[in-house]
Amino acid sequence: MNREQISAIAHTGHPIKAPLDDESVRLLLERGIPRDDARVLDLGCGGGEWLLRALTTYPRLRAEGVDVSELALEQAGEAASGRGVRERLTLHHQEAAEFVSPHSFDLVLSVGAAHAFGGLLPTLAAAREHLAPGGRVLIGDGFWESEPTPEAVEMLGDFADLATTVDRVTADGWTPVHGHVSTRRELDDYEWACWGSLASWALDHPTDPDSTEALTTAATRRAEWLHSYRSSWGFVSLVLRRTSD
Ligand SMILES: C[S@@+](CC[C@H](N)C(=O)[O-])C[C@H]1O[C@@H](n2cnc3c(N)ncnc32)[C@H](O)[C@@H]1O
Repeated sequence: MNREQISAIAHTGHPIKAPLDDESVRLLLERGIPRDDARVLDLGCGGGEWLLRALTTYPRLRAEGVDVSELALEQAGEAASGRGVRERLTLHHQEAAEFVSPHSFDLVLSVGAAHAFGGLLPTLAAAREHLAPGGRVLIGDGFWESEPTPEAVEMLGDFADLATTVDRVTADGWTPVHGHVSTRRELDDYEWACWGSLASWALDHPTDPDSTEALTTAATRRAEWLHSYRSSWGFVSLVLRRTSD
């Protein structure tokens, strides 16, 4: 089983691939989408769930998603057809950092994909390149709630604390106009959903050649979460506007 297949099964019960519940996603989109006919871009869109929710809420909105995972994009396309919004969604199978577009966007999203650009500030720099005048960026990234163990840093990457994270963003010329810090419940629900879905799939398919590996992966990832980063890792989502241009 490759990473993409594991990710697809792990997210069956939590199609937003980040620790946010439906109401948090709804509010972030509401604050991030400046008007009904906005053009929205998602860099690292995964299964496209953010865009699908935006498209179903705003019938005149157009959306584009970029991702390196062919499987995730296939799922995004199928889900868009199922929800009747496929003709307003364009999907690009490529590196997010290499994406170029002839037009700019009113909202640029990138949630849980900052590693694709080498961190939070490079992600904002890339998003800015695609932003229409007066546009917004909706970014979601990790931070350290408390001092991480070396294993947690090794596993998740090197983040800052929340205040430092927001200071860096504002020093880079952005003003947060909305923000959400994932709650303990959102963080826990996400991990239980991922490793629970993967374990359930393994138990439901005992004769599948991938069953044992899936069950082992679910157990390993659950243990890594509980032992290594549950107490130290947090997730913040920000809706940003340029402070001045
Ligand atoms: C944690 S998922 C988040 C997906 C989506 N933003 C969401 O919140 O549901 C990260 C996504 O980034 C994509 N990704 C990773 N590296 C990338 C790259 N270099 N270019 C484009 N996408 C990338 C992965 O394939 C994955 O779909």
